[in-house]
Amino acid sequence: MSKIDAAGTYSLGNHKVKRMGYGAMQLAGPGVFGPPKDRDAALAVLREAVASGVNHIDTSDFYGPHVTNQIIREALAPYPGDLVIVTKISAKRGTDGSWMPAFSREELTQAVHDNLRNLGLDVLDVVNLRSMLGIHGPVEGSLEAPLTVLADLQRQGLVRHIGLSNVSAKQIADGRRICEIVCVQNAYNLAHRADDALIDELARDGTAYVPFFPLGGFTPLQSSTLSEVAARLGATPLQVALAWLLHRAPNILLIPGTGSVAHLRENLAAAELVLPGDALTALDRVAKIAAA
Ligand SMILES: NC(=O)c1ccc[n+]([C@@H]2O[C@H](COP(=O)([O-])OP(=O)(O)OC[C@H]3O[C@@H](n4cnc5c(N)ncnc54)[C@H](OP(=O)(O)O)[C@@H]3O)[C@@H](O)[C@H]2O)c1
Repeated sequence: MSKIDAAGTYSLGNHKVKRMGYGAMQLAGPGVFGPPKDRDAALAVLREAVASGVNHIDTSDFYGPHVTNQIIREALAPYPGDLVIVTKISAKRGTDGSWMPAFSREELTQAVHDNLRNLGLDVLDVVNLRSMLGIHGPVEGSLEAPLTVLADLQRQGLVRHIGLSNVSAKQIADGRRICEIVCVQNAYNLAHRADDALIDELARDGTAYVPFFPLGGFTPLQSSTLSEVAARLGATPLQVALAWLLHRAPNILLIPGTGSVAHLRENLAAAELVLPGDALTALDRVAKIAAA
């Protein structure tokens, strides 16, 4: 038993993963570009995550690019049997670090092969098709062509499960006419709750919802309510933000990102934090203030 078991598990395709996972994006250099300042520290974060019981890691070959996956492979291969590595495709990086859509058949196929090679895998457990129609929020538009390519790669045996990222309810429904969608990864946290209805809808049909920016992203969440609740519970504000997500819905899987072992420990410990009713009421107001 590890401490993160307190948060329970949820289905991700045919895998059962712990609800407290880890997001690897912060392991690349500044701006998610190039190598990290301290490669040994990055290796240590990954090894500690898995030693602490984490069996769900989120990544992409466009983090770095390539660098993050290569660090994951160096730190963890041969991989523990229960570890599920989820990756995402549909973007590429310019030489200046810029992010560009990469939605053609050739680019998507190349991205799957890049992930396989750099992670050292024969099959990718879960691949999210990341919509680049919007930046940090869904923008309507058809994803039929790229999703058809990804479904073809799944039929070839290179991909076990498919998810969607940065998408609307309509894009998920349309996507389900092409292939099974096992998870949705959108921006969501205590102060950014545009997906409230979508999360409940996905929970009803057993689909995992994986919020990106669970701590607020590049600028972590700050609010006096979070700080007050945290002080009362002897926790940190970001632990409260993670515990709130775990409480929010059973299908939420957490992938908080950090390049620091100390922050990783703090984040994983949130799995054991129980929020009393009055704290939940106060935290609900944070979302209403943020939305106003
Ligand atoms: N699908 C998509 O489009 C998409 C987009 C963005 C991210 N993602 C995925 O989602 C994961 C999570 O998102 P994210 O990493 O961008 O954002 P996040 O988890 O909301 O926050 C990460 C930020 O919080 C800091 N942090 C983490 N733990 C902390 C702690 N205990 N105390 C203080 N600061 C702390 C990190 O800095 P330190 O490194 O200093 O701890 C980093 O600046 C990523 O790793 C990635 O796998 C997906």
